[in-house]
Amino acid sequence: MEAPRPFAREWCAQSLPLTRGSLLKLRVWELWLLLLDFGLNAELPHEEDVHFINEYVNVHNELRGNVLPRGSNLRFMTWDVALSRTARAWGKKCVFEHNNHLEELNMAHPKFNGIGENIWVGPENEFTASIAIRSWYEERKKYHFENDSCSSDCSNYKQLVWDTSYKVGCAVTSCTRVGRIKYAVIFICNYAPGGSLSRRPYKPGITCARCSKYDRCTDFLCSKIKKIT
Ligand SMILES: *[C@@H]1O[C@H](CO)[C@@H](O)[C@H](O)[C@H]1NC(C)=O
Repeated sequence: MEAPRPFAREWCAQSLPLTRGSLLKLRVWELWLLLLDFGLNAELPHEEDVHFINEYVNVHNELRGNVLPRGSNLRFMTWDVALSRTARAWGKKCVFEHNNHLEELNMAHPKFNGIGENIWVGPENEFTASIAIRSWYEERKKYHFENDSCSSDCSNYKQLVWDTSYKVGCAVTSCTRVGRIKYAVIFICNYAPGGSLSRRPYKPGITCARCSKYDRCTDFLCSKIKKIT
């Protein structure tokens, strides 16, 4: 949730209209990146793979729907491609640091400002979506709901169960090295709206008791009724 460091310049630069020659070069460069990506990430899920998306969203909603104490106003999460692209762009840096552009206007998402972020880094052969997301949830052991304090870092937990966050986008990137970890994987999920450490992550009480009147209760979470137009 907090942040430090540079990003997105090159990422944004790629969508700028350029001269024909440089555009072509850009295409070739992108193709090369794609091929490189394919080689490096051959066994890792892509952020636009449907199974990957379902698993990530489902694990988030499962954990959010089963918080203790029970939550009365947590929102059901759905996938957001823009957030997953932000996660992917930052992941490619292969650094274990928060994206420092999450608070900047329109840098991390076209509509939302103040994006949340959770990061997991570990050896590639130890990565699964479930392991990574559940490791964030495990931080609840360090969080005391009664007095809203953490005995050590519990920011990933608070973001994971933050009541108003209802959009999630994740990406996994392999890196030859991240810090001391060789053949590492960096897994990032970005959230909108983002959470913070300023208050308890949700209101305790009977499941769905504090949903808006336009919501229905889905898997113990508040979800918007789709407008039929
Ligand atoms: C909050 O409550 C926990 C558990 O009762 C306790 O261990 C911790 O010291 C308290 N923290 C603060 C800042 O009061």
